Amino acid sequence: MTEDLRAAVRREMPGVRADLERLVRIPGIAFTGFDHSHVERSAEAVAELLRDAGIPDVRIVRKGGQPAVIGRRPAPPGAPTVLLYAHHDVQPVGDPTQWTTDPFEPVERDGRLYGRGVADDKAGVMAHIAALRAFGDALPVGVVLFIEGEEEFGSESLEDLLREHRDDLAADVIVIADSGNWDVGQPALTTGLRGIVNGFVEVRVLRQAVHSGMFGGAVPDALITLSRLIASLHDDNGDVAVEGLVRTPSAPLDYPEQRFREEVGLLDGVEFIGSGRLVERLWSRPAISILGIDAPPTAGAPNALVPVAKAKFSVRIAPGDDARRVYDAIIAHLRHHAPWGAQVTIELEQLGEPCVIDATGPAFDAARQAFTEAWDGTPPVDMGVGGSIPFIATFQELFPKAAILVTGVEDPATSAHGPNESLHLAEFERVCVAEALLLAKVARIAG
Ligand code: BES
Ligand code: MN
Repeated sequence: MTEDLRAAVRREMPGVRADLERLVRIPGIAFTGFDHSHVERSAEAVAELLRDAGIPDVRIVRKGGQPAVIGRRPAPPGAPTVLLYAHHDVQPVGDPTQWTTDPFEPVERDGRLYGRGVADDKAGVMAHIAALRAFGDALPVGVVLFIEGEEEFGSESLEDLLREHRDDLAADVIVIADSGNWDVGQPALTTGLRGIVNGFVEVRVLRQAVHSGMFGGAVPDALITLSRLIASLHDDNGDVAVEGLVRTPSAPLDYPEQRFREEVGLLDGVEFIGSGRLVERLWSRPAISILGIDAPPTAGAPNALVPVAKAKFSVRIAPGDDARRVYDAIIAHLRHHAPWGAQVTIELEQLGEPCVIDATGPAFDAARQAFTEAWDGTPPVDMGVGGSIPFIATFQELFPKAAILVTGVEDPATSAHGPNESLHLAEFERVCVAEALLLAKVARIAG
């Protein structure tokens, strides 16, 4: 069976690659301020791909936000149903001068395909299609495809969509193809993701800007005040200093320091921060970053004390923690540490729950076998991810009996969200083979 399926996937790869390139040429970005007609076109292209792959019931649905595509093909009698998730929207390209080639014109170099969304997550979409095509009419399981159109913009309407279409989406196994593997040649199942708490903190110290020479020395300025407040978020070692945040042990993987240093692009002489094993710092402990500051630009800054300054903070929270509780802890910390009686206003932008996946049971056994065969005998490792897919917690709540497999096409060189995002083409084929094998093996679990 393995060899037949592998051959079937291999036969499909040129067409899969061509359709992936067609999707990459559609710049569907769900962020505010972008032309959302591309997201519409992208949803239509996905719907057409699903129909052509033998999915009889395909609909484009929305709930106020961007269009998602739901496709359904009922299970053969006694067979289980598998929900296949991916998203068709992409991140904005950022600074276009950092791209070697046009982000929306896919180009192959050295076995990798380059373009925005080529991995995150259009290859996830195409991995599902590749598996369907490999089976043709002989698909041994029921499938529900859920291809979202606003994941990169925070999946605001996803929860409403899931609740509204809950009966249509019900499945025994859920495959979320939006993560990645541990390394090229080393497959992985993602079994824990951090959550996210994003917000703004503003400090006010003066009614208006005043002469820095006449008044400086006796009153604070807002930027020094904000800097001290921000500095209070970590101890000298770089561990998060906000009290009460969850820290857990993580998968027993070793991330070699030198490999990590290169992958992250840490400059010479710059030290790591925090304590614990590297993977614990990245996957199962909290992290706090400052993503932006509103302040006068340095060019043309007058000799005046700045009255108000604002920062955007982003907290990644450990699997097992609770986003609302962390937000409350951050509020308490910022209020308590406000220097010199500064007025502090805190505003929430986004809460996303972390998740822990219990990776045991027949669907996980099937997945491990499928991955091992697809990677020619190399079994998958369980890994965590420092990034967030908050709706996994919603899937867990709505479908408590379903096994949730978090898979994906990314590898350490993918540069998702960054410039020159790319997909390792040989590894992509293994991902497609693994998914086809997974469906074949899951078919033997009772529905
Ligand atoms: N695919 C990522 C999540 C991810 C990151 C998986 C790293 C594997 C490795 C997802 O598209 C993403 O970027 N999520 C956002 C959160 C969301 C609420 C906007 C993130 O983590 O910033
Ligand atoms: Mn993604």
